[in-house]
Amino acid sequence: MPSPGPSQVLVKVIATSVNLSDWECLRGDPMYARIGGLRTPARRVLGSDIAGIIEAIGSDVTGFRPGDEVYGDNLDLKGGFAEYALAPESALAHKPGALTFAEASTIPQAGPIALQGTAAAGPGRRVLINGAGGGSGMFAIQLAKRSGAYVTGVDNAGKLDFMTSLGADDVIDYRSQDFTRGDPHDLVLDNVAYRSVFAYRRSLARGGRYLCVGGTSRSLLRILTAGFVAGRLTGRRLGVLVVKLGPAHFEPLAELCVSGDLQIHIDSTFTLDEVPQALAHHGEGRALGKVVVQVA
Ligand SMILES: NC(=O)c1ccc[n+]([C@@H]2O[C@H](COP(=O)([O-])OP(=O)(O)OC[C@H]3O[C@@H](n4cnc5c(N)ncnc54)[C@H](OP(=O)(O)O)[C@@H]3O)[C@@H](O)[C@H]2O)c1
Repeated sequence: MPSPGPSQVLVKVIATSVNLSDWECLRGDPMYARIGGLRTPARRVLGSDIAGIIEAIGSDVTGFRPGDEVYGDNLDLKGGFAEYALAPESALAHKPGALTFAEASTIPQAGPIALQGTAAAGPGRRVLINGAGGGSGMFAIQLAKRSGAYVTGVDNAGKLDFMTSLGADDVIDYRSQDFTRGDPHDLVLDNVAYRSVFAYRRSLARGGRYLCVGGTSRSLLRILTAGFVAGRLTGRRLGVLVVKLGPAHFEPLAELCVSGDLQIHIDSTFTLDEVPQALAHHGEGRALGKVVVQVA
């Protein structure tokens, strides 16, 4: 049983959701997933997004008491695929009573990506979300649609109907069509970048913005360097979105879920013993929306 440090809490994990970042840390690919642990994972127990009940608190913790229901993204310490996890007080928020533990566990990492990635969406804007059938894409489609944008979702063929059900106006199967060769967009949110900066620039209308949140290390480096220059020279902006995580960034999205303005789609639920299957189900691209591990 782990013991909390002064500013940490011990959470009895009830549910934890799978993110692509878990799969990336597990496999050490892309390369940046090895930061802090080049040859072996920095954290032996993976699992970032947790929802559960406070079991014990450190001496400096003021915001929580044992018995409180909480949720949050424990990206630094991880350890969510376990009965108990340590987390810094600052990573957690009180769980809204209207959300189940499983539902709450889907929000802390995917929510901020979707909120910050679609912040520039608006009425009449053409927004494309690449990798839109996964966890953050599920929220991003709905947020962009709520803003009044015309939304295109890109993912594999098995996820096209799902993206339409979330509100996408147009859907593209990335295995049969290259979105960078289609109509230009005002905003592109890319969860899985691997193309050249010139392809991404081509996907933008003049004044348009391309935001990458994940992809190959090589693509991210190119976007940060050549992409920045190539975009500016032609009146477009290409960049990497470093997502701000934490309660201030995921609670607004949880409120939209509580009010019924956004829906949470849980593709499937696994037990703690089935974490390998849960990771594979998500990582191999079979999940629509989120995969949850119900621990207790
Ligand atoms: N920038 C930051 O600060 C930050 C922080 C946390 C996470 N992230 C990143 O955020 C991203 C999104 O995470 P998530 O958990 O929402 O991922 P997710 O649930 O796995 O969703 C990604 C989706 O992209 C699809 N996909 C895979 N390859 C594709 C391709 N070539 N073209 C189009 N779609 C493709 C996947 O489906 P299939 O594989 O089935 O085809 C999946 O539906 C990840 O890259 C993660 O590393 C960034």
